Formats: sequence, structure tokens, C-alpha cells
Amino acid sequence: MKFPLTRLRRLRYNKILRNMIEDVSINAADLICPVFITEGQNIKEPIESMPGQFRYSIDRTIEFCNELIDNKINSIIVFGIPNKKDETGEISCSSNSIVPKAISELKKVFEDKLFVIADVCNCEYTTHGQCGTIIDNDVDNDLTLKTLSSQSLVLAKSGADALAPSDMMDGRVKVIREILDNNKFEKIAIFPYSVKYNSAFYGPFREAAKSAPNFGDRKTYQMNFKNSEEAINEVKLDINEGADVIIIKPAISYLDIIYRIKQKFNVPIIAYNVSGEYTMLKSASANNFINGIETILEILHSIKRSGANAIISYHALEVAKYLKANDL
Ligand code: PBG
Repeated sequence: MKFPLTRLRRLRYNKILRNMIEDVSINAADLICPVFITEGQNIKEPIESMPGQFRYSIDRTIEFCNELIDNKINSIIVFGIPNKKDETGEISCSSNSIVPKAISELKKVFEDKLFVIADVCNCEYTTHGQCGTIIDNDVDNDLTLKTLSSQSLVLAKSGADALAPSDMMDGRVKVIREILDNNKFEKIAIFPYSVKYNSAFYGPFREAAKSAPNFGDRKTYQMNFKNSEEAINEVKLDINEGADVIIIKPAISYLDIIYRIKQKFNVPIIAYNVSGEYTMLKSASANNFINGIETILEILHSIKRSGANAIISYHALEVAKYLKANDL
């Protein structure tokens, strides 16, 4: 390529041409909105650590989902904030638990118009906030698999379209696939968070879901952010155990990982633009230090460019509204 024959600016003068040759684009169908669901009635409670986000009771969740659908967001991932917790998280394994209750209500109202992904984990349901059953001060892998598979079965029975185990126990995809298949839920997909780094970016979420561990940290199960080869092994294992789609999180600091997984495996990827990423942007834009919508659009496109097919983001609704208002 030689100047003056090659002038790359020739492709940038005309707006129609610029749009025509874009590599990636964002539309509402690519966005999945996280929803925090709490017990009670008529509750829409602001989440302090995440400006613009709320905890909703089931009735208000339905109202919120109507707004999402009006703006072409047709998929959500749900998190529960139960009234009661226990030692192992077993409280989540009943059809009366907050998330299964919510999903069956949502499915009654929306049927196939709303794709509902259920996060599968124990940390919202344990008194200590760790993601599983504690033995000798640490989360026991194989005991935790038992609660995860019972929780999964209850979620499947409630009508969840996909399950997203986020606990990082070894072997969870296999046991969940088995319990689903043994109960005629072979059509329900598993979207494991195969690559989940131990990240400070989850801070605001833990306030939102009231799930912060009250001792220790999650370093014995979530991945060390100094590593990347390990991500390949995690994905390989999960695909072999029956994963349908791979979730990678966080997103912004891990674009290299998304790119590598996309190059290496022929599998759809969802990236999770997590709570801390959301709150950083919201805080900066509330101060007018950056332009919020322009910045989030740039971030979401970078996540797409790196290889994600879809993105879980707390910005989903505001972005969808922007796309709609601008006829995009
Ligand atoms: C549950 C779970 C977490 C997130 C998603 N599922 C929290 C954690 O692992 O502590 C974080 C999502 C976010 O920060 O937005 N285990």
C-alpha cells in the first residue's frame, strides 16, 4: 500500500459508505438485560452501587420486562434476592424460591416473547455469601455440585430457557446436563460462565444481590486474572461437558480472552459487561467527564469486535432506547 495511490481516508468521507463497510454493529437482539428480583410486592428499589438500576418485586419485574420488549430487548438474565438464606444455598432448590417463582410468572405473561436465562449459583442464598457448601473453610466442589444440580432442575421446571452456572465448580456443566436430560429438559440450553475471573469489577453486583462473602474471597474457584491459557482449558472442558454457549466475564479488561476463545473454538460467545464496568462509566458520565452513550457504544462495539456474539449489559435498555430513537 503506497501513498498517494492508497488513501484510506477515501473510505471515510461519506457517511453512507462508512456505514456500509462497518465490520460490526450492535442491535437490540444482541443485548441481554440483567434483572435483580426481590421478594414482596410493588417494589422498585434503587441499587445504590449501580445508579439507574433497581431491585424489582415480581409484579414490577413484569412491568420492567414490558418496557424491555417495547424497546426490542427480548432476553434477560435473572438474579434472586431471597428473604431467607441457609448454610448451603439449598433454600434455592424449591419452586417457592424467588427466582423459580418469578420465572413461572414471567413465562405465563410473556411465553416465548421473552428468553429467560437463569444464573445458577449459591452465593445469593448462603448465609456466608460463598458460592457453595463450606468444608474446612473452603467451598467443597463435589458437595456444591449437588445443590447446583437441584437448583438447576427447579429452574428448568419453572420455565427457564437457559441456565448459566456462574459458580466455577469443576464438573458442573456435566451434572447439570445430566439432571436436565434425565428429566426431559434436553431442550434447555446451558450457558456456563466458563471463563469467570476473580474480579474487583463484581463489587457493585455484590451490593445489589447482597451476596458478598462474609469471610475470605473467591480465589479458590474463580480464575486468576494473571492467567490466560487456563481460559482455553476451562472452555474446552465445558464444551466437552455439554456447554451450548460460553459466557466470558468481565468483558472490558478481557477482550484478549474473548478474541482467543473465538479464534480457537467454534462456539457462540456471550460477554458479560459487569457491574463495576457499568458503575465506572455511570460515575464518570454523571460528572460529565465523559459522554455516557458514546462511551458505552464504543465499549459494546469493542466487545463485538473481539468476537462476542451477544452481550449481557446493565446498559441494555438505555442503548436499545438510543438505537430506537435514532432509527438504528
Ligand atoms: C454470582 C454472580 C456474580 C456475578 C454474576 N453472577 C457475582 C460474583 O461472582 O461475585 C457478577 C456480575 C456483575 O458484577 O455484574 N456468582
